[in-house]
Amino acid sequence: MAQRILSGVQSSGRLHLGNYYGAIREFVRMQDEGEALYFIANLHALNSVRDPVLARQLTFETACAFLALGIDPVKSTLFRQSDIPEVGELYWILGTVLPMSDLENAHSYKDKLAHGASPDFGLFAYPVLMAADILLYDSDVVPVGKDQRQHLELTRDWAGKFNRQYAPKYDSHTGQGGVFKLPAGRTRDETASVPGRDGQKMSKTYGNTIDLFGTDNEVKKQINSIKTDSTPPESPKPTEGQALYDLLKVVLPEAEFADVHNRWVEGGGGQTTHGYGFFKTRLLEGYHATFDPARKRYAELVADPAEVERQLKAGALKARAYAAPVIDRVRKAVGL
Ligand code: ADP
Ligand code: TRP
Repeated sequence: MAQRILSGVQSSGRLHLGNYYGAIREFVRMQDEGEALYFIANLHALNSVRDPVLARQLTFETACAFLALGIDPVKSTLFRQSDIPEVGELYWILGTVLPMSDLENAHSYKDKLAHGASPDFGLFAYPVLMAADILLYDSDVVPVGKDQRQHLELTRDWAGKFNRQYAPKYDSHTGQGGVFKLPAGRTRDETASVPGRDGQKMSKTYGNTIDLFGTDNEVKKQINSIKTDSTPPESPKPTEGQALYDLLKVVLPEAEFADVHNRWVEGGGGQTTHGYGFFKTRLLEGYHATFDPARKRYAELVADPAEVERQLKAGALKARAYAAPVIDRVRKAVGL
């Protein structure tokens, strides 16, 4: 049987290079490897977006972004999380079997606390909804960024726990006979963490992004504001922990990056051939060469909301058909 691939991205802000190289590029590649389901996690997004007009707008923009970047609704099932009522039901049922201490120790919750966010229940329960997303469709493979690996581990733990509780024939060694299938994670190490303009992980939370669909001017400003040190153009530059160097590596095609790398480590030239300004220009050119086709397509989709809505509705129908047998098994297993 074809393997089932599932992943989602929250519609909580504008998408950036980290989202593309850490997640969406992989989603596009994997469309040809099995039955892919991709969704816009707009229920998760409610944890941070409290303005209904903005919430709706970001859901729409995220859908446009998926489509523009190459998610093909013929090959994949593309849908909105909130169009699948079964996910809320499964979320509740899972919550009845999992230990609260798992949630207290989840890094998404601990990190946000550490950043001074006031802890809502939604943030605390976030991994449970994510587990419901994953388990509802009998997913085999879940491509996620490094920061999401722990959530996947939790999902596997809870699915196993549920199976041991409710499936008498479950064999935890082979994984056979369970109510839930235990999914595998998948991350690509070389792009597992894309740095932001300030050198921390690129994240909308840190305000250090380079956006995929900002205006030309915004993107140029963002690239120009990447933090560099004061090494003069003629000196060799350090490569370790340099956001600009790492971003060039991620964005430029290999052969072009080889040229940039040589200039970077050798130094020797002047401002216009070996200075940080020159490297920023190379990054901006690389960005446009890579993303301009998607940016054009994005603008077309944004201008045609009815078509995007049609795609999402069709995707939701397909997704609910995948979910139906699973939620049926769960209801039977627990006695509903
Ligand atoms: P943000 O950190 O901006 O809020 P999200 O948490 O919504 O981004 O991430 C959406 C997806 O993009 C996730 O799969 C996540 O792992 C991936 N991702 C986000 N930022 C990065 C990054 N800097 N490097 C690699 N992957 C990332
Ligand atoms: N939590 C993920 C993120 O922040 C989004 C997400 C929600 C997700 N449910 C999921 C990812 C299920 C993979 C599978 O990016």
